[in-house]
Formats: sequence, C-alpha cells, structure tokens
Amino acid sequence: MLGNFTFHNPTRLHFGNEALDQLGKELKNYGPKIMLAYGGGSIKQNGIYDLVIAELRKAGKTIVEMPGVMPNPTIDKVMEGAALARSEKVDLILAVGGGSTCDYAKAVAGSTYCEEDPWEYYFKSFGKMKCRYIPVGCVLTMAGTGSEMNAGSVISNHAENRKMFYHFRNPEFAILNPEFTFSVPKYQMVAGIYDIMSHILEQYLSGSDDNTSDYIAEGLMRSLITSSRKALADPEDYEARSNIMWTATWALNTLIAMGKPTDWMVHMLGQAVAAFTDATHGHTLSAVSGAYYRLLLEESDNAVAKFKRMATNVWNVNTNGLSDAQAAHKGLETMEAWMRELGLAMNITECGASSEIIEGIADACPINDGGYKVLERKDVINILKNSL
Ligand code: NZQ
Ligand code: ZN
Repeated sequence: MLGNFTFHNPTRLHFGNEALDQLGKELKNYGPKIMLAYGGGSIKQNGIYDLVIAELRKAGKTIVEMPGVMPNPTIDKVMEGAALARSEKVDLILAVGGGSTCDYAKAVAGSTYCEEDPWEYYFKSFGKMKCRYIPVGCVLTMAGTGSEMNAGSVISNHAENRKMFYHFRNPEFAILNPEFTFSVPKYQMVAGIYDIMSHILEQYLSGSDDNTSDYIAEGLMRSLITSSRKALADPEDYEARSNIMWTATWALNTLIAMGKPTDWMVHMLGQAVAAFTDATHGHTLSAVSGAYYRLLLEESDNAVAKFKRMATNVWNVNTNGLSDAQAAHKGLETMEAWMRELGLAMNITECGASSEIIEGIADACPINDGGYKVLERKDVINILKNSL
C-alpha cells in the first residue's frame, strides 16, 4: 500500500428499518428552524414525508419547506434555497430524498452566507469555503451516490451547459432505511446500482501497487452484483436493498480511495453528457464506460492487468488458456452482459446525445490524470463517437 493519507469520516450514520427513530435524537442538537428540502413529490406518495414531518413536530421544530429539488439540481435552485435559508435563518437543512436532494442541501448550506458568486467561486474555481456553513442532515430515499456520507455536491448550470462538483462538508448525520428505497422506479434503481459500480471502478482502476483498498473494492463489487440481481427480481427484497444501500455508502465515503490515485474519467465524461442532455446520472456513466475501458485496454498494460484481476476476482471468469488481453476483455464483456441484464443505457444516443453536440460535450469534460491513461481531446472525441 503506497502513499500517505488521512482517513476521517465525520458523518454519524443510522441504518436499518428502524433508523428514522434516531431522527428525534439528532434534531435535539440543532436550533428551532429546519429547512426541509425534497424533490418532486415521491416522498408524499410513499409516505416518507408524513413520517419525517411527524418527527419534526414531535421535536417542536419550525419547518421551512423547500420542495421541487430536481434530479441534477441547478444553480438557480441553489440560489433560491440560499435566499430562503438566509431570510429564515435556518439552523439545519434536512434533505429527504436521493443524491440530488442531499447534494442540493450541501450547496445551499455553503452558499447561504457566501459573499462570492457560488457558481463561479465553488464550482468553477474550487475556491476554499470560508463562510459560515449551515449543518446538513440527510434522510436517504435512494441508494447510489454516496452523498449521505461524503462532502460532494454536483450542480448543473443549463445556461452554460456545465455540470460541476465541489466538496463542501459531510452531512452531520444520515438516516438510511432500506425500506424507503422500495418505491424507487426501476430506471432509477438500476441507475443507482451502476453509479455504485462506477464509483468503485473509478477508484479500483488506478494504481498498480498491492493495495488493501482494492480487496475491499472487490468485495463491494461482488456484493453489489449479487444483490442487484435479487433486487431486480424482487424490488422489495429487504436483504438485497439493504446490501445495495450500504455498498453505495462505502463505495464513495473515501475509504476505498485511500492510497489510490483514482481515475474519475467515466464521471467526467458522463457529467459532460448530462450537462447537455440532463440525462440520469447512472445511465450517462453506463453509456460511456464501454468505449472508455476499451481505449484503456488498448493503451495501458496496467489496465489490462487490473481488468484481468477483476475478471477472475469479481466476475468469476475462467481465464485458463487466455492471454492477458483476452482475459481482460472477457472480464469487460461479462460486466457489460450484467449491465444489459439491468437495462442500463449502453450508448449516449439513449441519453439524448447526438453527433452534433459531441464537440460541446468534449469542451465540458475536464481531464484527470489519476487513471491508466491521460486522455487528449481527440481521445475524448473518439470515446464519445464510439459511445453514440
Ligand atoms: O424528485 P423526487 O420525488 O425525490 O424523485 C426522485 C427522482 O425523480 C426519485 N426517487 C428518489 N427516491 C425515491 C424516488 N422515487 C420513488 N421512491 C423513492 N424512494 O428518483 C429520481 C432520481 O433521484 P436523484 O436524487 O436525482 O437520484 P440519485 O440519488 O441518483 O442522485 C443523482 C445526483 O447525484 C449526483 C449526480 O450527478 C446527480 O446530480 N452525484 C452526487 C455524488 C456525490 N454527492 O458524491 C457523486 C455521484 O457521482 C453523482 O455525481
Ligand atoms: Zn456517480
């Protein structure tokens, strides 16, 4: 295990079908005014809204509602939330929803007292947060992003065709009841599952040292594959849903990044596609993965070695008699068969992209240098063309 690192994760996380019972205790730590941020109304249909409101009332809190947080939340919506949080002087922002609502709460928390323009300062310039930050809590209703236990916040700006991230601060607490995810529609469920897989791969597919993080990553992938099939067959399989939810948290709470350079190019490509199409996050990732990984396998021996290892350790591929390259490709093909089984988008056309916007998508795609190949612009264009 090479590299030096500090691991610290400050989020207190309550897990299980009785996890919401802990909300009352958590609320005691904050002042009287709570901003309740939520999305387009699913929590009103599945009853989670009523359960949370009951806890807030029991705790004697004043509720300031911020509904309508959209998937791929926008900077305009963040500014609306920040203005309300400022005028109401809220003491806590409670996000009830998926990654979008949780990301949104963090962005509002860091923008309310920010003296700069938050889009320019945080998302475009990665300026250090120096203003007062409002604490955030999260009641998670969908598994995928890991936002419940990380500092990340991904915000879209449609006027500029950009989707960018910033690291604010971890939620103070998170409440994860796997039963809350039973009602997630299949299209979103599989997007979340591939998001989890992609988070693990972005960290696993980097570095060439023998690293404990990679063994943990392999275990997480094996659990995810098993549970994804069970949840697909029965969306109310508690055991499967709970494993998926817990795997999502560990896939992106920084643990498996320890000692790793980490890649994140699938995310840069997927986010750039979404900047133009507003497509669902997990499907933008599945749509670009195949073309990107094939390029890595053509150009990097380290990528071949890692895909070969994954073929055996994760996908149970029998590699006897195969060359390294053949074994690596067989691993990738087995993964793609699983992706098709789930019903994921396998090309960016399905996500609403077309050849006319490829140059623009390439402009919106930052290039990272932690993976097995540092892409050039022509590589990005080729990946996008091969993903059409
Ligand atoms: O709007 P509501 O009513 O909440 O409905 C949502 C939304 O339509 C619905 N949903 C969520 N829970 C449900 C439910 N429907 C029925 N029953 C439930 N229990 O599902 C839809 C998608 O929700 P969303 O929150 O957008 O999904 P997800 O959790 O996948 O979050 C995606 C966002 O997170 C960002 C993505 O870029 C995207 O903007 N990410 C955040 C990361 C982070 N913070 O670390 C990392 C990720 O890589 C990702 O970029
Ligand atoms: Zn993701």
